[in-house]
Amino acid sequence: MIVEPKVREFICTTAHPTGCQKNVEHQISYIKSKQFPQGAKKVLVIGASTGYGLASRITAAFGCHAATIGIMFERPATGKRTATPGWYNTAAFEKAAISEGLYAKSINGDAFSVEIKEKTIDLIRKDLGEVDLVIYSLAAPRRTTADGTTYSSCLKTINSTFTEKNLDLKNNTITQKSVEPATPEEVEGTIKVMGGEDWMDWISALSKAGVLAKGAVTIAYSYIGPKVTYPIYFDGTIGQAKRHLIQTASEISAAFSDVKAYISVNKALVTQASSAIPIVPLYFAILYKVMKEQGTHEGCIEQISRLFHDKLFQPEIPVDESGLIRMDDWELDPSVQEKVMKIWDEISTENLMTLSDIEGYWEDFYHMFGFHFDGVDYGKDVDIDVPVPSLS
Ligand code: NAI
Repeated sequence: MIVEPKVREFICTTAHPTGCQKNVEHQISYIKSKQFPQGAKKVLVIGASTGYGLASRITAAFGCHAATIGIMFERPATGKRTATPGWYNTAAFEKAAISEGLYAKSINGDAFSVEIKEKTIDLIRKDLGEVDLVIYSLAAPRRTTADGTTYSSCLKTINSTFTEKNLDLKNNTITQKSVEPATPEEVEGTIKVMGGEDWMDWISALSKAGVLAKGAVTIAYSYIGPKVTYPIYFDGTIGQAKRHLIQTASEISAAFSDVKAYISVNKALVTQASSAIPIVPLYFAILYKVMKEQGTHEGCIEQISRLFHDKLFQPEIPVDESGLIRMDDWELDPSVQEKVMKIWDEISTENLMTLSDIEGYWEDFYHMFGFHFDGVDYGKDVDIDVPVPSLS
């Protein structure tokens, strides 16, 4: 069928299989153009199908020549409904990995569940024996814990209402947006979903099963951002969850003497998870403009490539005074932030096109779903039923 984008505010309900393949191929060729130090050999990526997790899997496989197992929560095509982009990305990733003789298998299901953890452990035991790098890159709206309770995460402030400029994605206009404070239950829910409890559960389960290599490294991703987004991000519900995630890194390193846990604070980038955060997309569009002008803009693949190359496999992993790996160093550079904040004060619907990289924002958005790639004939019929080799 002919697949067209169907965009509803910050989500696209269709995905293009050929375009998603293109997206994965671009990332693979970027990684293949770089040299990586001897790194991980057997890698588990939890949240491996889009955004930072996909970039991590691609870097591990095509940069370090590692065997990878990827966990994801994606939907295959059904009838006339396309699969989710993460499904097509994973199909393309596995095909490319197999064609280069790299081991690549995926598990599709709820990473929070005991069942998926057990399935993963069985697969590691059967095929790899152990893993030496575990990347935790989940971004999820809800989590059901082992006792059957379902928690939801939300993107709200703590204590007081926050009103700021906002990019209305429906019509590219600047409006004012107010975000209401969360209830204590909503704060707790967000910590349960996006905090470190499940990361700890994964490492405990892998360690108990004896499938973690001696000296294994595990890494989870976080974000801090500029002061203007603190009320909605760093000091909001998600920020509370990220503080818990950071605390969990110390707890994992303390509880498992053979495992080192790290947090990498990454750059703000358009992904399915981040485009849902109020107020933040306007910051992204301005940030893209400033960083592209300075020549320091990176996408997920450039960020993770730099993480693997400059940080993860150095004899000593460079961290800041709080023990965090800072991949947001270029984003938070004062010369970038001063310009971003000046534009933030001046921006309006009338000058949005010139003062921000709104086009770059939307280009990244469409690319996530496999649209707007040069060299893809979007007028051509395409088979939407694409198998993921290890799942068929
Ligand atoms: P994303 O939405 O692109 O990726 C989420 C991944 O999680 C996908 O592979 C999805 O299939 C998987 N997933 C979701 N629920 C699942 C479940 N129940 N079971 C199994 N898999 C599940 O998100 P993104 O942005 O790459 O986020 C990954 C991490 O990076 C998050 O912790 C996020 O906070 C962090 N981060 C994101 C930044 C951004 O600007 N996008 C900046 C810094 C950190």
